[in-house]
Amino acid sequence: MVKIQLKKSVDKYNSGLYNNPACICVYFLCSFLRITGVYSLDKEETRVVIDVHSHILPGVDDGSKNPEVSRKMLEIAAEEGIEAIIATPHFEGGMTEKFLSRREKAFELTSAMAAEMDPPIKMYLGNEIFYGESAIEALENGTANTLNGTDYALVEFPVYSEFSYIEKAIKNLIYAGYIPVIAHIERYEGMKKKYQVEELKKHGAVMQVNASTVTGGMGWGIKRYVLKLMKAGLVDLLGTDAHGVNRRRPEIREALSVIDKKVGREYRILISEENPEKILRGENISGKVGI
Ligand SMILES: [Fe+2]
Repeated sequence: MVKIQLKKSVDKYNSGLYNNPACICVYFLCSFLRITGVYSLDKEETRVVIDVHSHILPGVDDGSKNPEVSRKMLEIAAEEGIEAIIATPHFEGGMTEKFLSRREKAFELTSAMAAEMDPPIKMYLGNEIFYGESAIEALENGTANTLNGTDYALVEFPVYSEFSYIEKAIKNLIYAGYIPVIAHIERYEGMKKKYQVEELKKHGAVMQVNASTVTGGMGWGIKRYVLKLMKAGLVDLLGTDAHGVNRRRPEIREALSVIDKKVGREYRILISEENPEKILRGENISGKVGI
């Protein structure tokens, strides 16, 4: 059997096709692109890339300043291959009814603009909740949004937060019935060690990393750290945390390419497509993370 296959491939090699230098060049170019990850990011090979962290809604936080900026952000996202976005405006305790209705209107407006993109972008609503005393109460009374109305709640902490503070917050959220998604885990003082991320993950927290960190936006050391976490299967989600069009743009393609090369295509799909899809549907992703 092996011999027959070998014979066939020798015959193939000896045919005119494989003797043609142009064909050989195309073959090696395709192989190179596959190895480098460029080819595997072709439209045909990807499913829907979902940005799970974005400040794209106009006039509700320090993200997009107005509808025109939101439209430009959507255009960039479409070019980057993003086909769904969870809008996650900042939420802190004490936000007024007026603010909440502005958030709803901003979401409706952005969703309408997103539907006009080519290809259209689907919008979902959430919040990035700054964890504090009133966070759980805000989730329970509906002023703070979970991600697409599921049990997943995107939360952030002050950058200097120690591990024990984050751990207590995670336990509180889980006890209250939520699944905490920790926004940009690479930022916190108390999560700079791999074992700390492992520990929080054991409690049931979901880990999100920013795309810009993967491309070196926080420096070489942090980039190396998040890639190490990914290689250990500890990162669940990738998000842009986009805030505008000049800086902190909704860019993800380069990060996906880096993950393809350094960690692997399967893992890239897991954290940018499969896990976000499950989160939008409210399905459990724990136990299925890893490579
Ligand atoms: Fe954010």
